[in-house]
Amino acid sequence: MIGALKDSYGRQIRDLRVSVTDRCNFRCFYCLPHGEPPMAPKEQMLTFEEIEEAVRIFASLGVNKIRLTGGEPLLRRDIEKLVAKLKRIEGVDDLALTTNGYFLPERAQNLKDAGLDRVTISLDSLRPETFKRMTGTNVLDRVLEGIYAAKQVKLTPIKVNAVIVRGHNEEEVVEMAAFARTHDVAMRFIEFMPLDSGHEWSRAMVVSGREILKRINETFPLVAEDIARGAETASRFRFADGAGGEIGIIAPVTEPFCGACSRIRLTSDGQIRTCLFSKVEHSLRDRLRSGATRDEIIDYIHGVVWQKERSHQIGAPTFVQPERTMSFIGG
Ligand code: GTP
Ligand code: 5AD
Ligand code: SF4
Repeated sequence: MIGALKDSYGRQIRDLRVSVTDRCNFRCFYCLPHGEPPMAPKEQMLTFEEIEEAVRIFASLGVNKIRLTGGEPLLRRDIEKLVAKLKRIEGVDDLALTTNGYFLPERAQNLKDAGLDRVTISLDSLRPETFKRMTGTNVLDRVLEGIYAAKQVKLTPIKVNAVIVRGHNEEEVVEMAAFARTHDVAMRFIEFMPLDSGHEWSRAMVVSGREILKRINETFPLVAEDIARGAETASRFRFADGAGGEIGIIAPVTEPFCGACSRIRLTSDGQIRTCLFSKVEHSLRDRLRSGATRDEIIDYIHGVVWQKERSHQIGAPTFVQPERTMSFIGG
């Protein structure tokens, strides 16, 4: 490893999340709700070769976890080819993908064959009405099929993400916990963060991790996993009665986990973001396209990572929501 990537707070960066497209076939209101958002012109998007080069460089600096996100990453044509390229890179131990699940029934096997290790699927509700209200689409059954397909081809461990929003799905968390048990998956409950393009977020809409846990515990007693959490976003629990599946609580608003953050992000148009809530971006694309040498790019990345924010400031009076929503930044 040529000089591990450290920020000015001593955190080592080991996890790169690469957004491969801004486009999405869903309209989740907490992410990308109103109308057609502006898309980056095609020539500004990183090519697969550029993404591969970027990942190769990050891997040489100690990054060992890569997650492909979007938008919906399966909308990027031939994403399996990118998966195959990234899987071959030395140092990449964990190659995952976050998806809304819609295309998984047909694509899960191809993704597995290309070398993908695992998927995380968004599923905010098991009730068709609520699913439609939250995602703007009426395709709950297909997403469920996608989860089953991923399981069938062993894109495991499978994680299922639900953003819990007051007035939408907080009454459903016990049903979702039952889903984790039945299907032996990790069900993760996420606090709503101010990253929605509708700017509807308010503190009152946040259902705290603590409340979610309490609701689940009343029906299915949980036991905290006795493992070091490290840089993980989720605190993890198993069912006290020994049933399969797992519960994860991701509480960035009420219990920030920034102190151990090991993540940075690369947007589909080639900008490095050192935090979900960054106010500045750094153009890796310009460096990749200007003929900079590998050493120059490495120096640049070290300089960018050094500037990583200490923490998000949700809740601070001075907090300003980032201009780009989650669909641009990558989940
Ligand atoms: P793995 O451990 O690789 O499975 O990834 P993960 O736990 O980061 O899971 P995933 O990528 O599914 O992220 C889950 C959710 O956590 C995201 O959708 C975000 O809502 C939230 N999240 C992920 N990374 C960050 C982060 O760096 N900061 C904050 N505040 N929230 C994050
Ligand atoms: N708050 C919390 N999580 C969000 N995601 C998207 N928008 C938000 C938000 N405003 C996460 C969801 C989704 C993933 C792609 O990004 O977990 O599954
Ligand atoms: Fe890391 Fe920023 Fe997320 Fe905090 S808010 S965990 S610093 S990316």
